[in-house]
Amino acid sequence: MVIAPATANTLSKMASGISDNLLLATYLSAKCPIYFAPAMDLDMYKHPSSLNSFKTLQSFGNIMIPAGSGELASGLHGEGRMAEPEEVATFIEQHLTASTPLLNKKVIITAGPTYEAIDPVRFIGNHSSGKMGYELAKQAAKQGAKVILVSGPSSLNISDESVTLIRVNTAQQMYDAVHNYYDSVHVGIAAAAVSDYRPKVVADQKIKKAGEEMTIVLEKSPDILLSMGQHKKNQLLVGFALETENEIANAKKKLEKKNLDFIVLNSLNDKGAGFKKDTNKITIIDKAHNSKSFDLKSKAEVAKDIINEVIAKLNA
Ligand code: C5P
Repeated sequence: MVIAPATANTLSKMASGISDNLLLATYLSAKCPIYFAPAMDLDMYKHPSSLNSFKTLQSFGNIMIPAGSGELASGLHGEGRMAEPEEVATFIEQHLTASTPLLNKKVIITAGPTYEAIDPVRFIGNHSSGKMGYELAKQAAKQGAKVILVSGPSSLNISDESVTLIRVNTAQQMYDAVHNYYDSVHVGIAAAAVSDYRPKVVADQKIKKAGEEMTIVLEKSPDILLSMGQHKKNQLLVGFALETENEIANAKKKLEKKNLDFIVLNSLNDKGAGFKKDTNKITIIDKAHNSKSFDLKSKAEVAKDIINEVIAKLNA
């Protein structure tokens, strides 16, 4: 949303949340980025109350397009003349490019657990909540990407028009959903805790209790990330490693085996890291085996660090 010309009166109402006309009501409920281009007389432009309005509006995340100098409506000359329309357009274009480095990039992210049916009422699953993957999707979208989030069963939801959420249950469904889009994406991030094995046969009816023991024969489920690595064209590929021992060595092995650009290692030995937690402590290891360790942080902040690494690698 662009507000230009933004007079001293309009700006002071925007800063104090007054909504006495359609423009102000639209501004107060807008969810898109807001740019304002002040246009006022020179003394007004320098007045502390205007400076206050600029500061307040910027503190709300609005972006100011500074006024230029020239002839003003009063006939005086000085600062306060609205930036020329072409300057406004160029400013917005440059600002959008700088503030959304993933603009025009498509990112696919897997999240959550998978559930592998044993019979109509039972399944093999795990404790993954999906939090890490959902935070990554939010962060990638915030940086301008179009995101496809393929999620196993999770209580989480996401409402961001740049994110397409595809819900699946099983590893096979996750594999199929990922490969429907994989050729068209620039970045793939596998944050899902996929069941490594699934029952070889799924019973049609609920299995009855019988005897002291029961055996379920399992077979390997598809390794989604491995297949993404094998079919890689120009995609930047990121995986996770949740390890309990020989963390760094195991993560490096996985990085190579799955043909990744970098791997995010989290160790269950670190307090605050792992399943169902709101925090995580990660080490990022890249193809050249450079590693960066980060402090314990909220998953939202961890997602920011990971997406920043994606941006750095795309620009490298
Ligand atoms: O081999 P491991 O399961 O430890 O590898 C973990 C990484 O591989 C994670 O990024 C996970 O999302 C991904 N993965 C997958 N499909 C599987 C198993 C793991 O995409 N079947």
